[in-house]
Amino acid sequence: MEEDSNLVHIPVMGEEVVEAFHEVKMTAFFDGTLGMGGHAKLILEDHPELKLYVGCDRDEMALELARESLTEHREKLRTCHGEHKDLAVFLDRLGVGTVQGFFLT
Ligand SMILES: C[S@@+](CC[C@H](N)C(=O)[O-])C[C@H]1O[C@@H](n2cnc3c(N)ncnc32)[C@H](O)[C@@H]1O
Repeated sequence: MEEDSNLVHIPVMGEEVVEAFHEVKMTAFFDGTLGMGGHAKLILEDHPELKLYVGCDRDEMALELARESLTEHREKLRTCHGEHKDLAVFLDRLGVGTVQGFFLT
């Protein structure tokens, strides 16, 4: 992955992702492919009611870039390094029983 911190990542399907959850009131969200946090930023901006945004990625560098690009949401963001198939383990560790939103994109 490039190390240019000025890199701006435009997520594919950003509009579709926002539209899919726009009417849903959410407390917790699980993003199984956080990447550089492009979708996360859109969801967090559209859902100020969110208390927790759990972002998982198997690429540690992607998680680092996501944490940088989402600094204004750092109080809500929890990053998990690993495979999204292990979401139950990650959520359990964080003490989260239910999420209202989920995607892998
Ligand atoms: C297309 S990017 C995600 C883009 C991201 N949603 C965004 O808005 O910036 C795909 C990401 O999924 C991660 N990934 C792919 N398969 C995965 C898996 N099985 N578990 C966790 N992360 C995975 C990759 O490391 C990569 O960072």
